[in-house]
Amino acid sequence: MGLYPYADRFPVVRDFPQQGRPRADILAEIEAMSEIEDSPYHEGKISGSIYSGDEAHYHFLNEVFGHYSHANVLQRDMYPSATRFEGEIIAMTADMMHGGAVPGGTVCGVLTSGGTESLMNPLLVYREWGRERGITAPNLVMPVTAHPGLLKGAHYFGIEVRLAEVTDRFVADMASVRSLVDENTVALAGSAGTYPHGLIDPIEELSDLALERGINLHVDGCLGGFILAWGQDLGYDVPVFDFRLPGVTSISADTHKYGFGLKGSSVLLYRTPELRRLQYFIVPDWPGGLYTSPGMSGSRSGGIIAAAWASMVSLGREGYLAIAGDIFRTAAEISDAVRSFPEMRVLGDPFFNVAFTTTDDSGLDIFLVNDFLASRRWRMNGLQKPSALHFCVTRPNTQPGVVDRFRIDLAEAIQYAKDQQGTKARSGAFYASGVTTDQIASGMSWWLDATQTVPPT
Ligand SMILES: Cc1ncc(COP(=O)(O)O)c(C=O)c1O
Repeated sequence: MGLYPYADRFPVVRDFPQQGRPRADILAEIEAMSEIEDSPYHEGKISGSIYSGDEAHYHFLNEVFGHYSHANVLQRDMYPSATRFEGEIIAMTADMMHGGAVPGGTVCGVLTSGGTESLMNPLLVYREWGRERGITAPNLVMPVTAHPGLLKGAHYFGIEVRLAEVTDRFVADMASVRSLVDENTVALAGSAGTYPHGLIDPIEELSDLALERGINLHVDGCLGGFILAWGQDLGYDVPVFDFRLPGVTSISADTHKYGFGLKGSSVLLYRTPELRRLQYFIVPDWPGGLYTSPGMSGSRSGGIIAAAWASMVSLGREGYLAIAGDIFRTAAEISDAVRSFPEMRVLGDPFFNVAFTTTDDSGLDIFLVNDFLASRRWRMNGLQKPSALHFCVTRPNTQPGVVDRFRIDLAEAIQYAKDQQGTKARSGAFYASGVTTDQIASGMSWWLDATQTVPPT
């Protein structure tokens, strides 16, 4: 497959075509490729990535998108509907995060292009916040498990990152966090939940520390926000991580993950408009006209915003609760399935994203386990420090039969790891790609190859 996937089936475009091609041909190619690539998710074997998987929902969102796909939200006068969608998405998300509980109801927000942007913007804000207080060498304290989007933001904005340790339950170790805070700390960050293990950092204690030090606290709910928010209503013991905690100054939550919108949207909430104001960028005297921009992007698609809004208002609380109920239940069943094997253990106490690995006693390589699972078209995410896999449960995984299939395949995968002990695993810990270094070097995606060559069982 290499760097030219589909070269055996379709012409490779190497220079600008002189003449255009018929739309029908192009659509046929698009349909062929997307059908191949989407087939494993329909079987419910993908961790994360595809959050809704409801074809009818996607068709509806695509229809909504189509009405505004060409619209540029920057042109506010042309598209007042975008102002409505954006305001209402933020209002709904603030409500979900108990923004109304803030005295005076000051919680506000912005829409961004995704989780990474929703992590970078608050860092800019907290750097500016620090500057206003004379802090010229700002630092951010966060656990090692926090998402690299924060490292990226800190890198872009010249903020030092101080990485705190995690406990043996894989959440922020508060003693470690506390030891790293000093007079130049502008913010703390914690996750609800973390990408690697799906766990919720001790946000209440982080909030207390932020208040004690008079600094900011960002809660990364990019992955977990739109799923964990429903946990308490469903009767799960999900700790409070939102604006009910007075030290929380910003929260990110991705509409393009468990918000079930189309890819390219996320919500970033601030406790006060004063904080949000610090992310605005204004050039009053530019020859092109007074330039004002609320975030990093310039032009933005109205279609994505309309689709995020449509996802939220079409499902409503009841829709989200029903799906979340299925996801919490399935994740618990996956945890139980993993724990039923003496060679395996679950990391921490997850609600929706189950990280697991082999026990020390078993001496088995978790990536050999993964190799076998991949041959059965499962796509788990590989982790490191410690080596582990996670199964981030989404709606397609809640289909009947998926957990049973997982249990059966995991049993065989453990046997495979025993048989292959001492050999080098093909898979490894690669965020979002699931490929090995060898395969990256040769430009090959081993997992996609596996899904195309190994028939489903
Ligand atoms: C906890 C967490 N934060 C942030 C992100 C970044 O989101 P995005 O990929 O939309 O930029 C992710 C992505 O998985 C995540 O899991």
